[in-house]
Amino acid sequence: MTKLQRHPLHSRVRWVTGFVSVVFFTSIDCGWSQEPHRLESPDGKNVVRVAISDGDLVYSVDREGRNLILPSGLGFEFRNAPPMGSGVAIREVSRRTVDEAWEQPWGEVRYVRDHHNELRVSVEEIGGPRRNFDVVFRAFDDGVAFRYELPEQPNLGEFEIMDERTEFRFAEDPKAWWIPANDPTHRYELLYRHSPLSTLPEVHTPLTLVTLEGLHLVIHEANLVDYAGMNLTASMDRRLAVTLPAWADGVKVRGRTPFVTPWRTIQVAETAADLQPSLLGLNLNPPNVLPDVSWIEPMKYVGIWWSLHINLESWGSGPDHGATTANTRRYIDFAAENGFGGVLVEGWNLGWDGDWMANADLFSFTEPYPDYDLEGLAAYANARGVTLIGHNETSMGVENYERQIEEAFALYQRLGIRALKTGYVGDETADGHAHHGQYMVRHWRRVIELAARHGIMLNVHEPIKDTGERRTWPNMMTREGARGMEYNAWAGDGGNPPEHETILYFTRMIAGPMDYTPGVFDILLASSPDGPRPLESARLRTTLAKQLALYLVLYSPLQMAADLPANYEGQPAFQFIREVPVDWEVTATIGGRIGDFVVVLRKDRDGPDWYIGAITDENARTLEVPLSFLPEEESFVAEIYADGDGAHWLHDPLAIEISSRDVNSRTTLTVDLAPGGGQAIRIRPST
Ligand code: NOJ
Repeated sequence: MTKLQRHPLHSRVRWVTGFVSVVFFTSIDCGWSQEPHRLESPDGKNVVRVAISDGDLVYSVDREGRNLILPSGLGFEFRNAPPMGSGVAIREVSRRTVDEAWEQPWGEVRYVRDHHNELRVSVEEIGGPRRNFDVVFRAFDDGVAFRYELPEQPNLGEFEIMDERTEFRFAEDPKAWWIPANDPTHRYELLYRHSPLSTLPEVHTPLTLVTLEGLHLVIHEANLVDYAGMNLTASMDRRLAVTLPAWADGVKVRGRTPFVTPWRTIQVAETAADLQPSLLGLNLNPPNVLPDVSWIEPMKYVGIWWSLHINLESWGSGPDHGATTANTRRYIDFAAENGFGGVLVEGWNLGWDGDWMANADLFSFTEPYPDYDLEGLAAYANARGVTLIGHNETSMGVENYERQIEEAFALYQRLGIRALKTGYVGDETADGHAHHGQYMVRHWRRVIELAARHGIMLNVHEPIKDTGERRTWPNMMTREGARGMEYNAWAGDGGNPPEHETILYFTRMIAGPMDYTPGVFDILLASSPDGPRPLESARLRTTLAKQLALYLVLYSPLQMAADLPANYEGQPAFQFIREVPVDWEVTATIGGRIGDFVVVLRKDRDGPDWYIGAITDENARTLEVPLSFLPEEESFVAEIYADGDGAHWLHDPLAIEISSRDVNSRTTLTVDLAPGGGQAIRIRPST
């Protein structure tokens, strides 16, 4: 039995009440310096040092005297210009402190505190072209970040970066939880592996690392606007170097001064349970630019989607076409009757016939198939208080998409379609620009901005990773960017193993929301034409109760109930999906270990209810969860959706037990999880 002692209302939540002050001061140390400049986090635990070593600019990071990052290099290599970062001197150093609060329009927490100390180091080349640049470091209590700023100057105007020299050198060889970068068919959609850092190939971020003594670090980036996505490549000497996906001609980043790079972030936590989904990344993005966010509404949705993946219906035209008027009306009715906000419809537009992955240029984003009454369905949905969720699969035909996008978004706006799922199946653009390179990063920003102008919320599949852009553009709601539910549908694939989501929580989810699409009740895929599926084939490897718990563990402001409506009929457990919120006042990890289990506490943003979601890997587990976060002297009822007697992801995935009991702040719940199981708990005030 594991006792979870931690009080879940961690400090990040507690400070909110009564917080008013904003402290801000600046001081400047001028002159050339040999001594390292030191920057501390507000709690004094995380320490950054910046110095010149043998003419190179280097930085290091310690936590309470422990070396996290040893002195590591910084700088760039250019095409047709000398590299930058060596033969330099520090010209000026300035500091400031920020302590301010801001409110998210929606999110996993309502209030965010941005409390950090900043050190700006201005560097100039001693000889040669005498170019200069700044590196800005910020130290937060939960990690550190830095970025480059290249000011306008005579000898650095337009440039082409061929490599970024940023590196992260480690004193020891931590255990890394990783997925490889540059997998042409899977992008981010791979099962996580773990191995010593020094053995890693080129990997994606966020990259989660665990030191020998159990410290957890996540290397990632924030505010990726006009740059290539950052990958990391290890060498035997325990060094991670930044590597960047390229334009078709091999250039990594094109720019002109003045220019700022994305932030490179190192989140630090003492334990897995301290590794909260990152607010650090949000704090490194500019504030919301949208004057009106009232149209941006987190919601649950259903859709013509799972039926396509289990081969029951088709995207393309023909007798099995899923996106027909009659079928869509049924989904709209189901959504309206159960309080869901949206209906996703895939395969509604011309272009799906034949090999749609190869025929990207055939997609129309305005013309429906003849058996799909786009205008009538949009109106019918709106009349029933539901929005159609449009779907734009591009197959990486980005040029084709950009040619049509203005007209398409204007059409959706006119029809009252307020949300859109986009898709980018494919390795690179027709012109050979990398999926996660600067060309595509620019495209995705353009889509976010255009969608905002047309009142459209976005859910991006095969996306660029989340680097916190939702703070600036709150219509950028959710995305895929990992191996989601669909891998459980594709016969022959093998599906996601029971540990998968316990890893996702501490890796992919650190970056931000994910459209995992939980809620499949037909665990054995009896509804698929080849179902029920045998174990060797793809099928779900969870219990039914775990499907419910995923709504609490894997956060998404657009959260799908992925199964066929028929599979929810007569299922008492469906009540939980109907009721579970998608917008949270408070979120706290109250226990967990990467790859083993996780327990998450959330509080509804629009009501007094608390929720606890717990999931485990292939091992059964019993967890003791104290409810000390509840207000004292108040009575609550816990509605518990637990694995039933004998439940097991393989032998008996459907056994579920739904019960309720009185609880208060002195109660400790014993949470029993079956192998591959989970538990979802709603705690509401007694009436
Ligand atoms: C892959 C996406 O992840 C999936 O959700 C979508 O249905 C297909 N592409 C088709 O666009």
